Amino acid sequence: MKTIVANWKMNVGVRESVALARGTLLTLRGRRISPEVVICPPFIALSEVHKVVARSAVFLGAQNLFWEDHGAYTGEISGRMLTELGVSHVIVGHSERREYLGETDEMVRNKVAHALANQMNVILCVGETVSERKAGVQRERVRTQLVRVLAGVRLKSHDRLMIAYEPVWAIGTGEIPEVAEILAMNVYIRSILSEVLPEMNANKIRVLYGGSVEGNNTYPFLREQTIDGLLVGGASVKLNQLKEIIDAASEVLDAQIA
Ligand code: PGA
Repeated sequence: MKTIVANWKMNVGVRESVALARGTLLTLRGRRISPEVVICPPFIALSEVHKVVARSAVFLGAQNLFWEDHGAYTGEISGRMLTELGVSHVIVGHSERREYLGETDEMVRNKVAHALANQMNVILCVGETVSERKAGVQRERVRTQLVRVLAGVRLKSHDRLMIAYEPVWAIGTGEIPEVAEILAMNVYIRSILSEVLPEMNANKIRVLYGGSVEGNNTYPFLREQTIDGLLVGGASVKLNQLKEIIDAASEVLDAQIA
């Protein structure tokens, strides 16, 4: 299986989100085999987009959540509220939130635990900054993030967690790591996962890649067996790009069953 997560960020309002969701459904129609697709509109569009994707194979994801069920937390939204809207997935720990909103590993940990407690599927983002990469400490960075966020977390099934390896320097920049670098990082990530989640088979936890994915650079990532999918930002609000990405994933899956 391959998973494509479309992170629409703050790029679209309600009307555009609904149109994109409809377009995504059309793109998936009539395929022999297609990837799992999770679309993550802004909060304000979740309700309308849910009406579009309900009873389809497309999953609805949120871009963030808060870690309490309810209470005096102005502006925040809980997992319980999200599931009420039909949201099944949530992106947690995105580098933009870490950078602009001051999210720490501890906050990310609380969010992951809350999402899991609310039976949501978590897409946990990890990745090093450009200076960490230059200093050659990308593994240490990713290790720290995974250990701080996941150690002791109760995971009932490997399906509930996906890791998105997103080097911060690759997000929205057009720069992408070599596929070999991603593969090596995926192996490393799985070794940490088996350490921090010993009851899980780390090979079954999906590890996605994210950062400057576009239609025309997708195939080399997806044809790798250990890259379980992609977290797509900018390109995911362009329907022709999203279609190319889904086409590439379908092609890979088709070849696997042929
Ligand atoms: P990008 O963003 O595809 O625009 O680089 C990826 C992400 O932030 O998830």
